[in-house]
Amino acid sequence: MKISEEQIPLPPVGLVARVTGTEDLQWFRHSGGLSLNDWERSLGGIARNFDQFENIVDYGCGCGRVLRHLKPRLRPEQKLHAMDVDADAIGWVQQNIQGVETHVLSPMPPTTLSNASIDLVLNHSVFTHLTEDVQTLWLAEVARIVKPGGLAVLTFHGRNVWEGYRTHLIESGRVEEEAYINRRLDSYGFHYIGGRTTYEDVLPEYYGSSFQTIDYVEREWQRHFTIKAWYTKAALAHQDILVLERK
Ligand SMILES: C[S@@+](CC[C@H](N)C(=O)[O-])C[C@H]1O[C@@H](n2cnc3c(N)ncnc32)[C@H](O)[C@@H]1O
Repeated sequence: MKISEEQIPLPPVGLVARVTGTEDLQWFRHSGGLSLNDWERSLGGIARNFDQFENIVDYGCGCGRVLRHLKPRLRPEQKLHAMDVDADAIGWVQQNIQGVETHVLSPMPPTTLSNASIDLVLNHSVFTHLTEDVQTLWLAEVARIVKPGGLAVLTFHGRNVWEGYRTHLIESGRVEEEAYINRRLDSYGFHYIGGRTTYEDVLPEYYGSSFQTIDYVEREWQRHFTIKAWYTKAALAHQDILVLERK
């Protein structure tokens, strides 16, 4: 029997806050539906849709904010993997969202999935939080598990998110920091801001905030993938979304 999103229980607010930054359960549910639409629109932009993929991964799914909307949209025979480094969040998904294969990840790759076993990797806001070295390793791992010709829909903090953050820095009087990061984005294209979060007990040391330009993404992410589409301000109307095809 197919389950609907409304039938899936809501996670404890502590887990919700780890993925949305707020304990607002209404936003958790509503924004999950919006993010599913973001993924669907991104695939639609290259004339693809969820029905065409058999083995699907939500990489960094947290407590299933988007997954709870995605699972009811898939046919029962489509296999959905839920992955995160947050063991509490994955434990909750395992207990509460039926028909999903769960994976608790180590902070560093690999996953336990076989080479070229996945048709589609979906993701909202994980490559927004990694250092450059860690991002490089996880991108290579995503590439390892995706079949040649398979797709990855991944988000990143592009210029748009940087513009918002730089305004905040300027308004807080942190003008030297703002100028430094801006120069670095212009010259190199990637900048990571460290700083532990409230969830430092459960999230890896490297979890901070990263910004990257499309020039950097074209240069570095295309080692394993071809960019099929790039949408600015597309993920919850602020992060950028890339649709990548495995080479
Ligand atoms: C901003 S939350 C987004 C969660 C979920 N994708 C969503 O949209 O609700 C970032 C997630 O990335 C997870 N994370 C951090 N480092 C990770 C890594 N290396 N691999 C997979 N997930 C990671 C965190 O535990 C957290 O659940």
